[in-house]
Amino acid sequence: MSAMLNIAVRAARAAGRVTMRYFDRIDTVKVVSKSRNDFVTDVDRAAEIAIIQELRGKFPDHAILAEESGSHGGNEFEWIIDPLDGTTNYVHGFPQWSVSIGLRVRGRMELGVVYDPLHEELFTAERGGGAKLNDRRIRVSSRRGLEGALIGTGIPFREQHHLDRYLGMLKALIQDTAGIRRPGSAALDFAYVAAGRLDGFWELGLSPWDFAAGALLVAEAGGTVTDLSGGDRFFDTCNVVAGGLKVHRAMLERLRPFVDADLPA
Ligand code: IPD
Ligand code: CA
Ligand code: CA
Repeated sequence: MSAMLNIAVRAARAAGRVTMRYFDRIDTVKVVSKSRNDFVTDVDRAAEIAIIQELRGKFPDHAILAEESGSHGGNEFEWIIDPLDGTTNYVHGFPQWSVSIGLRVRGRMELGVVYDPLHEELFTAERGGGAKLNDRRIRVSSRRGLEGALIGTGIPFREQHHLDRYLGMLKALIQDTAGIRRPGSAALDFAYVAAGRLDGFWELGLSPWDFAAGALLVAEAGGTVTDLSGGDRFFDTCNVVAGGLKVHRAMLERLRPFVDADLPA
C-alpha cells in the first residue's frame, strides 16, 4: 500500500471511530436540517474534522473538498471527502453508512477509500493497483446482462425535479432484472459494485464526494463508470451509471429513452 493510501486509511478509520462512538446513542445526537430532507449532525462534522486533521497534518499543501466545510484551497492534489455517507440511515439506526475519501490529482482520481466501520469493511483502490476489500482483491461481477442482475440505486428524495424521469428508468430496469436495492449510502453502493455484490448501480443528482472514491473502486475492480450518456462527464453531471462491462452497457440501453439531455442536477 502506498504511503498516501495508508494515510487516507488512517483518516477514514479516525472518522469511523467518531461515527461508531455515537451510533448506539443516536438519541443524544443533535440533527439539523440543511435543507429539505438533507440532514447533518455533530457526528458528520466531528468525523470530517478528524479526517481533515489527519490529512492536513501530513499534506498541508493539498487542497480539500469536504461535504460539510466546503473547499480548502491548496495545490493540484485534492482530497474529496464525505465524512458520513448515509446520514439519514445513521440517524435512524439503519446499519448502512460509510466514510468516503478520494484523492484527485489534476482532475484524475488516484486513490479511493470507502470504509464501513460497522461491518469492519475497508474498500481501497489505487490507480493501476486494483481494488481491495480488507486487503483482498475484489472484482466486479462477470454477469453478461440484466437477466438475474441485482442493481443498486438511489431514489431522489431532496430535489424532486428528477422524479418522473427517474421513475421511468426504475420501471424499465425492474422489468428486466432480478431486483433493485436502495441501500442508502452511495459510496457503499459503488463499493458493493466493485465487490460484485451488486451487478450495477445508477443514481441521479449525486455530489462529487458521494462517488469520487467509489468510482475509482469500480474502475479498478474492472468495471465501468459513466454519465447517463455513456461518457466520462459524471463529475460535471453528477448522474452516474456503474457496473461490470456488459451490465453497464445493458443499463445504458434501458436508460437511453429517459436521457434527452444529461444535464447537471
Ligand atoms: C447521500 C447518500 C444517499 C444518496 C444521496 C446522498 P449523505 O449522502 O449517499 O445514498 O442517495 O444522494 O446525498 O447526504 O448521507 O452524505
Ligand atoms: Ca453523501
Ligand atoms: Ca455525508
